[in-house]
Amino acid sequence: MANKYVPEPFRIKMVEPIKMLTRQEREEKIKEAHYNMFGLKGEDCYIDLLTDSGTNAMSSFQWAGVMQGDEAYAGASSYYRLRAAGQDIFGYQYIQPVHQGRAAEKVLFPVLLGPGKFAVSNMFFDTTRAHVELAGARAIDCVVEEAKNPAKRAPFKGNMDVKKLEELILEHGAENIGLVVMTITNNSAGGQPVSLENMRQVSQICKKYNIPLDIDAARFAENAYFVKRDEEECKNMSIKEIIRCMFSYGDMFTMSAKKDGIVNIGGLIGIKDEKSPLILKIKANCISYEGFYTYGGLAGRDMEALAIGLYEGINDDYLEYRIGQMEYLASRLDDAGIAYQSPVGGHGVFVDAAAMFPQIPYYEFPGQVLGVELYKEAGIRACDIGSYMLGNDPDTGKQLHADFEFTRLAIPRRVYTQAHLDIIADALIAIKERAGQINHGYRITWEPPILRHFQAHLEPVQQ
Ligand code: F0G
Repeated sequence: MANKYVPEPFRIKMVEPIKMLTRQEREEKIKEAHYNMFGLKGEDCYIDLLTDSGTNAMSSFQWAGVMQGDEAYAGASSYYRLRAAGQDIFGYQYIQPVHQGRAAEKVLFPVLLGPGKFAVSNMFFDTTRAHVELAGARAIDCVVEEAKNPAKRAPFKGNMDVKKLEELILEHGAENIGLVVMTITNNSAGGQPVSLENMRQVSQICKKYNIPLDIDAARFAENAYFVKRDEEECKNMSIKEIIRCMFSYGDMFTMSAKKDGIVNIGGLIGIKDEKSPLILKIKANCISYEGFYTYGGLAGRDMEALAIGLYEGINDDYLEYRIGQMEYLASRLDDAGIAYQSPVGGHGVFVDAAAMFPQIPYYEFPGQVLGVELYKEAGIRACDIGSYMLGNDPDTGKQLHADFEFTRLAIPRRVYTQAHLDIIADALIAIKERAGQINHGYRITWEPPILRHFQAHLEPVQQ
């Protein structure tokens, strides 16, 4: 039986019309886009689940804040408001705005990483991995084993494998591990949460070997919701107390604020200790690449909207509705016997495309196959989180075999209704019924050298 839908804790004041193309039009559009979801126009997508990043609906309070943005080049009051919000929520002394998450990585990572160095994470998101490699270092994923089995329902499948982390440190030498990155929630593993206990253990290991610990904090609020729900020691803590406690174990954070900050653009770097020698280097990189350190590539109005959105994103009623949407959609898939990374994570449903198309090998990209089918079926745009996204080994150039082949249905915040979720579930059920007739996937006909999935051209493999 489908879960009860948690009603929206808001009402709708402004609407954005969307249109539905015919099936034939959609087939033409996806072919013109070289079967790459990023090549489609947004207006040709009926329900756009490509990402939950920057696709959020802002509140009336945030829009009012936009009008109050202070556009001073240096020392704008909007910067001070954002800094105060960051200091209050995360408990870190130094808060640096940047234009989005990858800008935070671009500014921070070269300070800590270089050739011969390694960075270890519970799991790197694709741009984060790219910035480790652009800094000349190598990225190693170290997620717990149960994350690799989508059917296994276990809490905190986003956790770091602490035993393996310590083995990796000993194998490569602590002096060569430039950074440990804890991604909360663990996006690539399915928006799976990280427990407070795991964070504490990782922090202890980092301290023991004197390795800096960075929190990749894009979905920090959704993570805190799961911690409160599923971790015994946190049941009676507020969401804010959990966030403060989680961040107390890190040394710094990099954040794409386009997710839990409920804005359309923005990012942050946070450094716990205002005396850290890192800060001067961060300011220097920020001034060179992003903008003066009191705006970091954002307009004053963007900082104002983010200062408000950070608080809206940690509101209890909002989080219950938000995770409730995931649980509702997941429960409809349970009823239909459609496999996904379970239990459902925080920002979307990651459908197990390898389970839906066992006949399609990883190098024909099952996650991409389901993405194209969803677009053809109902104008739904999703994306591959699997071998297609993972790409090639930077040293050998060989296609890597991902641990999973997911099609990610990322749900934008406060944008779609229960009826939209039903359309998504119905489309997946229709595809599952004809899945056995789809015998081939896609091959790449052109690809750029880095982050290929955004731009590559694909074509169907012929029978
Ligand atoms: N870290 C994580 C965990 C992310 O999910 C993302 C972006 C980034 C860093 C980079 O942030 O996009 O603001 O530069 N994830 C988006 C996604 C793009 O679709 O999952 P950004």
